[in-house]
Amino acid sequence: MKYKKFGKLDWSASALGFGIMRLPVKDKDYSAIIEKEAVELVRHAIDNGINYLDTAWNYHRENSEGFLGKALADGYREKVRIATKMPCWLVEKPEDLDRFFDEQMQRLNIEHIDFYLLHALQRDWWDKMKKFRYLDWAERKMADGVIGNIGFSFHDKFPLFKQIIDDYDNWTLCMVQHNYMDADREAGIRGVKYAADKGLAVIAMEPMRGGQLAKEPPKDVKQIFSSVAPNRSAVEWALHWLWDQKEISLVLSGMSNLQQLQQNLKTVDECSVGGMTPSEHKAISRAKEAYESKASIGCTDCRYCLPCPEGVAIPFVFDYFNTAEIYDDLRTAKAMYGFLGEDSNAAKCTLCGKCVELCPQRLSIMDLLKDCHALLYTEAKKEEGQPKD
Ligand SMILES: NC(=O)c1ccc[n+]([C@@H]2O[C@H](COP(=O)([O-])OP(=O)(O)OC[C@H]3O[C@@H](n4cnc5c(N)ncnc54)[C@H](OP(=O)(O)O)[C@@H]3O)[C@@H](O)[C@H]2O)c1
Repeated sequence: MKYKKFGKLDWSASALGFGIMRLPVKDKDYSAIIEKEAVELVRHAIDNGINYLDTAWNYHRENSEGFLGKALADGYREKVRIATKMPCWLVEKPEDLDRFFDEQMQRLNIEHIDFYLLHALQRDWWDKMKKFRYLDWAERKMADGVIGNIGFSFHDKFPLFKQIIDDYDNWTLCMVQHNYMDADREAGIRGVKYAADKGLAVIAMEPMRGGQLAKEPPKDVKQIFSSVAPNRSAVEWALHWLWDQKEISLVLSGMSNLQQLQQNLKTVDECSVGGMTPSEHKAISRAKEAYESKASIGCTDCRYCLPCPEGVAIPFVFDYFNTAEIYDDLRTAKAMYGFLGEDSNAAKCTLCGKCVELCPQRLSIMDLLKDCHALLYTEAKKEEGQPKD
């Protein structure tokens, strides 16, 4: 296993970390972790050098933290550092901070958490956390010795990412959705570089886009990859691209069986910072273009159409539709669309047409919203998806 200095800390993390979010489950029931198999998986990871594990309040429908507490018995707790997160979306008042934190410590069966993160920060939740004086609360917890270091995971755009980093001097780590398809979305490469320059440890989460980049790629993508490195799998391409970047402290993958874990352990040994050749970088760019060309809605996420007077989350709706096409993954797209809820899905559109006037791409937004809803909602009612995080 390779280890990298973890931001400002006098500690090195394994280049591969383990996300406790995609464990083996019974009968596709996301809450029903197959404990014996999952414990073996986690302990195999630790026995092979992984020293960073990431969980959260909501993973496996609130069973991940409790599972991890059990998996880390028998001396395993002392071998690793673990992270969990404040479920920002559930916090309604300042007293909730203690309530969630105390419950998490009980679930994990610990009195000290190494890393505590704000979960999935986006504009509203960061504003709310500031209003509830989260940072003062966290500093008290660190002074009391119950939290080691603090950070945040992020799902918004670069300007907010930069602002969050600039708002506080003592972040130790951040987690960003980072893979070759998302290099220019959310925090993006710009964010990764900015955070690393400021001394934060940067964790790349969703390195395979939650599994979408691990699937057999479409024919054209396969050809591009095999013309440069015939024997390299799609998973290896995704991981090589990440470990090539000096700014990445750790790649966090959610591995759901021993075979995946062993493959990723092997790949980490084969990768190195700056190890990708120019032709390999070119292949990644071409593969990305080939994937993106499968999206039929040319939304650039400029967000000029927002706010929609009815609250329709227009660019998100289009993004989920495109996700279904690009990765041939209707199930995830439907699940993500389901999370938008009745208040912001496409059914709220009243055909007022304000968005159409504002769209620089001149998209027929109202017609497209109708198509998206037909594909993503009608069928979403029949099939329940697994939450992405
Ligand atoms: N804080 C946040 O906002 C947030 C959001 C998302 C994730 N996370 C954290 O980040 C972690 C990583 O994200 P992720 O789980 O989405 O990571 P990921 O590595 O992008 O996706 C994991 C999935 O990729 C597939 N996979 C991984 N290795 C493979 C291999 N060698 N061969 C074939 N398939 C492979 C598996 O899919 P199948 O199971 O389909 O085989 C696995 O479940 C999560 O587990 C969680 O801890 C945090």
